[in-house]
Amino acid sequence: MKNFITLEGSEGVGKSTQIRLLKEYCETNGIPAVFTREPGGSKIAEDIRKIILNPDNKEMSDVCEAFLYAAARIQHLQDIVEPALKEGKIVFCDRYIDSSYAYQGFGRELGYDFVKQLNSLAIGQYMPQYTIFLDLSPQEAFARKGGADKDDRLEQQGNEFFDKVYNGYKHVARAESERFITIRPLGSKFDTHKQIVKALKEKGVF
Ligand code: TYD
Repeated sequence: MKNFITLEGSEGVGKSTQIRLLKEYCETNGIPAVFTREPGGSKIAEDIRKIILNPDNKEMSDVCEAFLYAAARIQHLQDIVEPALKEGKIVFCDRYIDSSYAYQGFGRELGYDFVKQLNSLAIGQYMPQYTIFLDLSPQEAFARKGGADKDDRLEQQGNEFFDKVYNGYKHVARAESERFITIRPLGSKFDTHKQIVKALKEKGVF
């Protein structure tokens, strides 16, 4: 879908910072854009987010989790993405279907095909035009932060899960390479920002 851009990556890769810098870039340059996030981004989708992320819901099955992400996705598409695209804006979405591939498909091991099938019902024609993938392994993300901290969800979930998520992203980036813009955020946040802007200009988004 033209002008529908998603941002993806494992925890701790600097996604939020890059989204903030992109937002500032669009404001400064008068580019009409909407910034939103998944899961959530609109009233009902935020309610679903609370159920998914509630640490008390320990007994939630992996399939239930995958369906809830897809349910939040449909609502968020209808409430935020569709109207903004119709108004001619660029929509930047922090996480989308590739998070489901990586986390549910690979992290929870439901499988790429299962998640694809489930989501194809939810999203219709709303595949991203481009997906910016900040490609940093969990180990690299840790090292950059100067080591683990105890409250970090990476620590809580265990490194094995995040290795599977990261490998999942790499798998999808290879399988759907025409859509992926892979950036290694190894330099400063401004270096990474410049790379993202350059890539979006080359693709004709900016
Ligand atoms: P959030 O606090 O927004 O994480 P981040 O700042 O890293 O984006 O929490 C979102 C969590 O939901 C994150 O751990 C990734 C996960 N997620 C999935 O597992 N599947 C999905 O389809 C989506 C959209 C997110």
